[in-house]
Amino acid sequence: MPRIRGRDLRVLYDVPAIAARNAELAREIATAGYVDLVVVSILKGSFIFAADLIRALHGVGLAPEVEFLTLSSYRSGTESSGEVTVLRDIDTDVAGRDVLLIDDILESGRTLAFARDMMLSRGAHRVGVAVLLEKPGKLAQPLQADHIGFSCPDLFVVGYGMDVAHAFRELPFVGVVEDG
Ligand code: IMP
Ligand code: MG
Repeated sequence: MPRIRGRDLRVLYDVPAIAARNAELAREIATAGYVDLVVVSILKGSFIFAADLIRALHGVGLAPEVEFLTLSSYRSGTESSGEVTVLRDIDTDVAGRDVLLIDDILESGRTLAFARDMMLSRGAHRVGVAVLLEKPGKLAQPLQADHIGFSCPDLFVVGYGMDVAHAFRELPFVGVVEDG
């Protein structure tokens, strides 16, 4: 078990597993028929996943426009509070275009429902959702991801862009911080 910053990290999804799954997701996205595609990486958590997935999309012949949307979902500890605000908006006009939202985790669905409604209210033609991880059974919003990397156990995970209290985003794998 890797020991990082004095904590034991149990690896859930390692580097080769994530890379293989990203290649599969890219093929899936290519067959979904998005037209005039803008991918919107939801920051901060999705930055590594988005970077890898976008390069995998190139590998299957897609050339999307790339945008970033910084949202804050206020959390107390590891629990979502439900309030979502825009910290930094995208720069492009999505009216009439297909949008693929990319996020790290779909948990309550509040973050992605907020982003989806924002894109639809601006006239996006179609809004797809790609997530690295989905925690089943936690949805508070009716939201279905179209492209899901892994169905994840109900644990607080870190790494590959995801943090706990701003730590561990740099890890190339997804893991769980073990107590003690
Ligand atoms: P939702 O709005 O409840 O779906 O929460 C999704 C957001 O909460 C994700 O984009 C993450 O930023 C964060 N989140 C949820 N679960 C975890 C976790 O296990 N580790 C790190 N961040 C998480
Ligand atoms: Mg996030």
